Amino acid sequence: MKLAIYPGSFDPVTYGHIDIITRASKMFDHIIVAVLNNPAKSPLFTVEERVTMLREVIANLPNVEVDSFSGLLVDYAREKNCRIAIRGLRAMTDFDYELHFAQTNSAISRGDLETVFLTTDIQYSFLSSTTVREIASFHGDISELVPRSVAKKLYSKYGYDN
Ligand code: PNS
Repeated sequence: MKLAIYPGSFDPVTYGHIDIITRASKMFDHIIVAVLNNPAKSPLFTVEERVTMLREVIANLPNVEVDSFSGLLVDYAREKNCRIAIRGLRAMTDFDYELHFAQTNSAISRGDLETVFLTTDIQYSFLSSTTVREIASFHGDISELVPRSVAKKLYSKYGYDN
């Protein structure tokens, strides 16, 4: 069975992430969307909230599961018996970081973890969770950027009634 992990912060999940998950689900037998639990960062949403939002929006994809992990991605991948990580590439600005991340993971796993890059659909090339949070914090329109269920939770974090 071809298994792949799609790791990320997903704070919150956007249509850009959903596009990558949907396309990856057609390339692999099973996908684990893995939310990093990183107490050093201060995310807007708790890891449990991020997992719940993701589960809601991928409910139509039977070969996708959502989990969370702490520590190194290579350790989590080994625990899951998985040798492939998926990452989305939006633009050249992502490239340096992603190349470094992929090469580091390959080195520290001694070649056990390969990274497969999917280029983001052009309509989402500007989209990031950071941008979505900022627009939501000013009660801007995020209807084209995240599903309604996510938008509701975002607005409520910033004290709006939707
Ligand atoms: O959505 P993001 O914030 O771009 O995702 C980054 C993530 C979570 C994939 C990455 O930071 C990660 O896997 N961190 C876990 C720690 C790790 O394995 N680091 C690799 C050595 S540099």
